[in-house]
Amino acid sequence: MIYDAARRALFKLDPERAHALTLGALRAAGALPLTRIALGRALRFEDPRLKVEAFGLRFRNPLGLAAGYDKNGVAVRGLASLGFGHLEIGTLTRGAQPGNPRPRLWRVPEARAVINRLGFPNDGVDAFLARAWPDPGIPVGINIGKSKDTPLSQAADDYVALLRRVAPRASYVAINISSPNTPELRQLQTRAYVADLCGAITRTRDTLAAESGRRVPVLIKLAPDLEEGQLEDALDATLGAGMDGVIATNTTLRRDAAGGFVPERYTDCQGGLSGAPLRSLATAMIQRIHARTGPRLPIIGMGGVASAEDALEKIRAGATLVQLYTGLIYGGPGLPARIKRGLVSALERAGADRMAALTGLQ
Ligand SMILES: Cc1cc2nc3c(=O)[nH]c(=O)nc-3n(C[C@H](O)[C@H](O)[C@H](O)COP(=O)(O)O)c2cc1C
Repeated sequence: MIYDAARRALFKLDPERAHALTLGALRAAGALPLTRIALGRALRFEDPRLKVEAFGLRFRNPLGLAAGYDKNGVAVRGLASLGFGHLEIGTLTRGAQPGNPRPRLWRVPEARAVINRLGFPNDGVDAFLARAWPDPGIPVGINIGKSKDTPLSQAADDYVALLRRVAPRASYVAINISSPNTPELRQLQTRAYVADLCGAITRTRDTLAAESGRRVPVLIKLAPDLEEGQLEDALDATLGAGMDGVIATNTTLRRDAAGGFVPERYTDCQGGLSGAPLRSLATAMIQRIHARTGPRLPIIGMGGVASAEDALEKIRAGATLVQLYTGLIYGGPGLPARIKRGLVSALERAGADRMAALTGLQ
């Protein structure tokens, strides 16, 4: 109710300005113990039946914030007080990048969607590591990507260097090879690159584990626009190299996504589409991944999650954890608590006592 008014005001602003204001407010709320505790009390809803384990980590609930919302990890405590079970920050690159020229972010309210071609604007890994890191009390994954100027032939060096830098701070590391807004990035998902890249990543993970005594899980984030054979190649490489999981999916370049609806006046808005029109396409991809890899490869599923039913759809398709981004823009800060309440009701209806009992049950 309160968010309805805030959303009306925010939606009058340029989308990037609105996002900066919201992130600033969350950062401020998270920095002050009083507002943090008040937010946490108002929005936190936990139930032991929501606990989940994946790739050696424990989560108090399956719902996380997707990458891109807090690219530089500046508002982790504020975001954690919204009741997420984990956060994924980034995408971070080796050097700071301004991203693509504006305009590069559009709301599509008719479809409860967003189109973006931001192109990884971020402060770079040095600035990120130089900043104090307040412990938000939940797992925080760090999503890393190739710099715009790095040629594909040297992309693995970017990922390996970034993994080495961020691993000590990360609960898990997400290897983002699926953003449509960095030239050629998605080619890293093809047979020519993906096996070598995954191999380099897992070797580095194991070396770091031997050095530090702590093994950081590494997950690969894939696009929903992969052809049948490409997805299989990427999954075989992921399994073969011993990656710890898959994140599915990133945004889509398609505008005919199953069930999707994007009015014609957005035709000139080029970039990745997220939110409701992506939902079925992403769920179908999670099903395909689960059918091929089963329990060997935990899945973080996302794409158009805006309700408990949407989250359950991803879980039933095979996801162990679920993330959202666009849903938060339209649903507001109360959304994580609403979804968690709905998940508990679903557990009760199914006569199940834990989330894992529903994973992969179509
Ligand atoms: C504005 C915006 C920026 C994003 N930036 C990133 C990013 O930097 N890295 C990444 O891996 N995904 C990024 N994403 C993709 C989301 O993490 C997520 O995969 C996608 O939006 C689908 O989920 P949703 O429908 O809940 O938004 C971004 C999405 C949006 C809307």
